Amino acid sequence: MTSPSLRDGFRRTINYLRLSVTDRCNLRCTYCMPPEGVAPLEHGAILSYEEMLRVVRVAVAEGIRKVRVTGGEPLVRRGLLGFVRELARIPGVEDLSLTTNGLLLGELASALRQAGLRRVNVSLDTLRPEVFAVITRRPGLERVLAGIDAARRAGLSPVKINVVAQRGVNDGEILDFAAFAEEGGYEVRFIELMPASREYWDADRVLSAAEILATLRTRYPLAPSVPDSLSGPCRVFLLPRGGRIGVISPLSEHFCGGCNRLRLTASGSLRGCLFSRDETDLRELLRAGADDRALASAVRDVVAHKPEAHRLGWTPPTDDLAMNRIGG
Ligand code: GTP
Ligand code: 5AD
Ligand code: SF4
Repeated sequence: MTSPSLRDGFRRTINYLRLSVTDRCNLRCTYCMPPEGVAPLEHGAILSYEEMLRVVRVAVAEGIRKVRVTGGEPLVRRGLLGFVRELARIPGVEDLSLTTNGLLLGELASALRQAGLRRVNVSLDTLRPEVFAVITRRPGLERVLAGIDAARRAGLSPVKINVVAQRGVNDGEILDFAAFAEEGGYEVRFIELMPASREYWDADRVLSAAEILATLRTRYPLAPSVPDSLSGPCRVFLLPRGGRIGVISPLSEHFCGGCNRLRLTASGSLRGCLFSRDETDLRELLRAGADDRALASAVRDVVAHKPEAHRLGWTPPTDDLAMNRIGG
């Protein structure tokens, strides 16, 4: 039997599902949230783990092979370990990972590994405590660093670090992060600041992938690494003494042509694109007693209508993009 596969209207293979398990977060990053945070969804508005597992099983039967748990901050949701254990048991999930801000990773890395998680991506924009407090409006750099180390020791591999690059904020730390990648054997990925917040986003803050690579090349020869069929939008380079560097350039270079992903928001809406307002309410279907065929048909429909590309430009968004509910 041939394995199932999902193809969209632009001949892209869709094999990656990102699951936002909560809209809540224990940080308040300036580009993501206002200082007071955002009103959290009510408990009943969030999909239960059982509901999410049903969606994943159906999506895997249709062709999804890679699953990532995101938030908000996924590690603040109660019962996450049990959920990861169930996800890891689903046949056909070849790559199971989680994106976290790392604050709770020191406590949870080893248990996550035992539950069947393969790897983690940790969001960390600075190696300086005072800058960390400005970006996230909370203390915690030491805890995140301890979390990253715990992940490595627990055998979560590779450990990737996501750095949202911002001019005037952390642009002086690019070479420090490369040294951090080399020393720890991590993959550090620099991400261009996307226009998600009306209040905060400013074109002057965007540091392009080309600028970042130029800074890196002043000290390191960067050998490109070859992507595989489950790879995301990150362009990866090997550092000479271990570790890797990546750049994710949603603004300066479209990667939509190779996009392989769907997103399930914390409240159970399935989205074809991070930046599209189009979404399908799977929660309603689930709670109305839809059978697996109806769910599968909804998944295929979202894939069929996945937009060709996002309409992001170098201008502030007209509405805030609820990154904490969609999961990046
Ligand atoms: P890997 O599987 O490890 O490559 O992870 P990933 O890059 O898919 O996941 P991660 O959560 O670490 O994503 C890194 C960041 O890249 C996201 O949080 C976004 O900022 C950006 N990104 C990921 N996917 C997309 C996308 O489809 N569109 C845009 N514009 N940005 C994306
Ligand atoms: N631009 C780029 N990356 C962002 N993230 C959140 N908001 C933005 C933005 N406006 C990143 C986080 C994390 C990932 C899930 O999304 O830093 O690495
Ligand atoms: Fe939390 Fe991530 Fe938003 Fe920061 S970017 S406030 S860590 S959800």
